[in-house]
Amino acid sequence: MQTAVLLYCEVVISLTTTIAAATNAQAPLCRHLLPAAFPRVGAAPELLVASGANGVHGVLALDWVSDGFVLHLHVVPASRRCGVGRALVAQAAAMARGETRRLRTATLVFETSPESAFLRSCGFTVTRRLLAFDTDGGRYGPTLSALLRRAGKHVPPGLTVGPLASAPAAGVAALVGWQFGVLQHDAVAKLDPRHPDPYDQQLSQVLMRDGVVVGAILGRRFGNIIEVDVNVVAPSLRHGLANLMLLEAIMRLGEQAGVQRARFSCEAHVRDTVNIGARLSAARMPDQLSYALML
Ligand SMILES: CC(C)(COP(=O)(O)OP(=O)(O)OC[C@H]1O[C@@H](n2cnc3c(N)ncnc32)[C@H](O)[C@@H]1OP(=O)(O)O)[C@@H](O)C(=O)NCCC(=O)NCCS
Repeated sequence: MQTAVLLYCEVVISLTTTIAAATNAQAPLCRHLLPAAFPRVGAAPELLVASGANGVHGVLALDWVSDGFVLHLHVVPASRRCGVGRALVAQAAAMARGETRRLRTATLVFETSPESAFLRSCGFTVTRRLLAFDTDGGRYGPTLSALLRRAGKHVPPGLTVGPLASAPAAGVAALVGWQFGVLQHDAVAKLDPRHPDPYDQQLSQVLMRDGVVVGAILGRRFGNIIEVDVNVVAPSLRHGLANLMLLEAIMRLGEQAGVQRARFSCEAHVRDTVNIGARLSAARMPDQLSYALML
């Protein structure tokens, strides 16, 4: 049975699926399937469409940016596991070869997810690994507040924490972009409240000193969970309380807004956050990874 299905897919791919640059008429569909690929300002991405007699099977967007083109990909559910995704990636790699040294993923993916399996099978390798923690906000919010109160006298002077909504957007974008080269496009785009999937402007918190953005914790709310996407502090404030201030603020406000859990992640070498995760006995979730395909 399984052989029959695989053979059928191979025939469909080789006989009727073609991959070509998107036509003007297909561009709105690409935008619909890959909203994160379309910047509000700047050049439209390069678009490939895999289609056959039954319509569109999948779309791929390539962002022509420095240090590796960013890849966005979506295969429609009915056409999955037939080689469409792999064929789109192969075509994108052929287009980009000679123009850049690698293709890279736009967002982080869980190590155990189908996307990870797909990327590995296409030859992508891990470029960045984040440890992910899942905390019970109701229990840990007060623990964080107590930690911060106890450490209060060590808080560097002049630091203030406030919502993203009232922070200078350009300053936050500069800090995030500088820290997360790989994720810059995606994370910076989500600072804009008009993005289809924006960061929560009230729960996300920004750390300021003398009018300068020196830290940010950016996340979104899914029901009663806050998912922290970006947590960054200027190098001069690392290994201090800045990170704790940001985490405490988002957890406290989240709790006030009825949020019960928080998920956050950090690179293994970011001792501050790893230590906080350990002190809170937060549950570890599968690691989150960025991938790249060397050309
Ligand atoms: C991830 C995605 C692009 C895969 O597209 P696809 O056309 O189904 O992938 P392919 O058929 O080319 O798969 C190639 C190989 O990847 C791996 N793979 C693909 N989907 C997988 C899954 N759900 N679970 C495990 N492995 C998978 C397999 O090794 C597969 O080879 P096989 O079918 O011979 O075993 C598609 O599932 C999708 O669009 N998902 C939602 C959007 C998304 O996650 N985009 C981000 C992609 S980086």
